[in-house]
Amino acid sequence: MYVIKRFEDKVVAVTGGAKGIGKACCLRFAEEGARVAVLDLALEDAVATAAECEKLSGQPALALHCNVADAASVDAAFKAVADAWPQGLDVVVASAGIYSGQPLVEVPLSEWQKVIDVDLTGVFLTNQAAAKIMMKQTCRRSPSGGGGSIINISSMAGKTSWSASAQYSAAKSGVIGLTRSVAMDMAPYGVTVNAVCPGNTMTEMVQGVAATIAARDGLSAGEWLRLRAQDCPLKRFAESEEIAGVVAFLASRDAGYINGQAIEVDGGMVMS
Ligand SMILES: NC(=O)c1ccc[n+]([C@@H]2O[C@H](COP(=O)([O-])OP(=O)(O)OC[C@H]3O[C@@H](n4cnc5c(N)ncnc54)[C@H](O)[C@@H]3O)[C@@H](O)[C@H]2O)c1
Repeated sequence: MYVIKRFEDKVVAVTGGAKGIGKACCLRFAEEGARVAVLDLALEDAVATAAECEKLSGQPALALHCNVADAASVDAAFKAVADAWPQGLDVVVASAGIYSGQPLVEVPLSEWQKVIDVDLTGVFLTNQAAAKIMMKQTCRRSPSGGGGSIINISSMAGKTSWSASAQYSAAKSGVIGLTRSVAMDMAPYGVTVNAVCPGNTMTEMVQGVAATIAARDGLSAGEWLRLRAQDCPLKRFAESEEIAGVVAFLASRDAGYINGQAIEVDGGMVMS
């Protein structure tokens, strides 16, 4: 298979890069020639993803422990990326995230706070750390190539209404507003900032959700997943690679004029 190499000599950092959508993004960028930094709480899995990236790209990759909800941890991880690859930071993907959902009156404040901390504050801290590096490097980048790209992983939950999903929906809607604001702040530096809003995508997160909700509804996880697939016009879940392909497009030169958007990659779920 012929693989286009849009990201040779580029430096890419992905939070939540050890697993799921973040991992698929790491592998896609590596396949296209990038040096990839995998930032994740799960260091062992991050090391494994970084090793796969090195095989694909023939370039060094980094695995860094990072808790996106902790400002010092995010700053330290981005400093490590800048120290390792001082040539610049081209692409940042904020994919780290968690899910929890309960009927509104049953949401413990601690659960609300935990999801907001990771899914919204984590994206803010990631964007802030990325911006500090990208704002300094603009002048050495070609205007036509862009000064860099930030891609935040929101969700269809940020675009449509879901019950029993207060903290997750609020965080994911917040990511869309945050993305627009950061896009305005970064535009003078030639950095585009967009969000991707995946629909149901087959990852560990979804399998965990399936197990919990299915048990509540008296179904097996498999039955619940088959039912959820029927909600989608395409009658299936996305594969992580389908989300990663759109993320890579948004980071490519072809998407240089797409800015501040929140793009649904959901098989038509929100539209329907
Ligand atoms: N899977 C879906 O159906 C779906 C749909 C819409 C949006 N999303 C979003 O996509 C993103 C990735 O989800 P996924 O399905 O790949 O999940 P996943 O659970 O498979 O992977 C999430 C990764 O994030 C890491 N992570 C979690 N908390 C972290 C923290 N505090 N700091 C750093 N890393 C942390 C985990 O260790 C893991 O490697 C999330 O933001 C999620 O909300 C997923």
